[in-house]
Amino acid sequence: MNPHRRHFIKSVTAASALLATESIAKPFSIIKDFKKISPNDKIRFATIGMGIQGHSDTKAALRGTPDAEFVAAADLYDGRLTRVKELFGKAIFTTRDYRQILERKDIDAVLVVTPDHWHDHITKASLAAGKHVYCEKPMVHHIQEGPSVIEAWKKSGKTMQIGSQSISSAAFKEVKRLYQAGEIGEINYVESNNDRFNAIGAWNYSIPTDASPKTLDWDTFLGDAPKVPFDAKRFFRWRNYRDYGTGVAGDLYVHLITGVHFVTNSLGPERIFSSGGLSYWKDGRDVPDVMVSILDYPKTAVNAGFQMVLRVNFANAGAIANNTRIIGTEGQLEFTEDHLVLTKRKLPQAPGFGGYDSYNTFSESEQKEFKKQYDTQFPQETRKAEPVKEIKFEAPKDDDAHASHFRDFFDNVKKGSLGTVEDPVFGYRAAAPVLACNESYFSRKVIHWDPVEMKLKKK
Ligand SMILES: NC(=O)c1ccc[n+]([C@@H]2O[C@H](COP(=O)([O-])OP(=O)(O)OC[C@H]3O[C@@H](n4cnc5c(N)ncnc54)[C@H](O)[C@@H]3O)[C@@H](O)[C@H]2O)c1
Repeated sequence: MNPHRRHFIKSVTAASALLATESIAKPFSIIKDFKKISPNDKIRFATIGMGIQGHSDTKAALRGTPDAEFVAAADLYDGRLTRVKELFGKAIFTTRDYRQILERKDIDAVLVVTPDHWHDHITKASLAAGKHVYCEKPMVHHIQEGPSVIEAWKKSGKTMQIGSQSISSAAFKEVKRLYQAGEIGEINYVESNNDRFNAIGAWNYSIPTDASPKTLDWDTFLGDAPKVPFDAKRFFRWRNYRDYGTGVAGDLYVHLITGVHFVTNSLGPERIFSSGGLSYWKDGRDVPDVMVSILDYPKTAVNAGFQMVLRVNFANAGAIANNTRIIGTEGQLEFTEDHLVLTKRKLPQAPGFGGYDSYNTFSESEQKEFKKQYDTQFPQETRKAEPVKEIKFEAPKDDDAHASHFRDFFDNVKKGSLGTVEDPVFGYRAAAPVLACNESYFSRKVIHWDPVEMKLKKK
């Protein structure tokens, strides 16, 4: 085992142990999966939803775990099923109907990579069918759907991982280590953003020329959403519509907040407010392209209270510098998936005087008196600030967060453990507040959330 891997397992175990104790309001112990997969067996998995991320997830799953075997795929558009066979081989079983995958006893795990409005339905059906589930973020489409997914997971005893893979990067783990070692003092503020300035970044993905109700299953796509006539834009650019997607908050904030919860072990905010608008992409979408949210985190046993400000601007024609900054009383951690910069500085005990200060407005005699008192109160050793220190970390070139996230999932499947780094309780604690950001935007109200009980609160 290489040292990096050993460190990885150690930190994942620690994080899982922490989650197991803190993540749930009611005590809940890890349920053993008695149908443990033997170390020599392959884990046979299927991907449900073979779109952009379905392809990316399937490849990452195979990169991360040599004993994972891709055996089947479901998708509603025939072209994507053809592509599966072109890329992964003719032997892969393909179907439009995900239930045919759930019926198969030789499939151990499924990746749920459909649009957001299908996540809860397919996850619950998969768990009930005895499959381990890797479900893409955000875990649910609506806040109210979270508890039933958690319940289904606990009942099943199956392993689940939610798909905000950045937290499995070397840089995020290093940020967590530095934060937990107290390197920035007491946290007081976090800001994180994900701006873009291009059509594909703003979710206007390519639509195939053969898109029609014949080549895809429109009725199934709609699922629990309102019935509307066939519209290829809705099918291939579903993120632009609230009926299927969760806007910039569910799509992108969720990664930002997941990272902050991973680093700080915070359970979530208690007050949430958003504002924004549709600035540029007036293409029929019903979600904003600029959104700013303030999330108010209470003081807890593990952290001081802090404010988190999240932003997405899909019309940022200015400078774009996407990262997360966690600020504390003694420094700042600024990071992305690839690198981090820790800047440490500590104020001297003595406040100083003079310069742009009221001291210069005092009479000469008062200035003398003031200085005498200051010298007694603040000896030389209290007057020097610690020099600013900067520590940088670059992730190793071969660091592969996506593959590592899958490896954590499959390792836990093999162990018969529920202790993944992003289990559904963790996943819901990230999803619910960002969905509340949407609720605040559309209702123009402050949303109150109980991060321990995981419930909306009335105020
Ligand atoms: N973790 C990440 O970084 C990341 C990145 C991108 C997307 N995602 C998530 O992945 C999911 C998919 O996003 P995408 O960009 O791949 O979308 P996509 O539109 O490219 O693909 C979605 C696919 O799901 C299929 N589908 C829809 N309903 C289905 C059903 N009932 N049964 C079977 N297949 C069905 C569609 O036919 C489509 O091909 C979303 O939840 C998104 O938030 C995560």
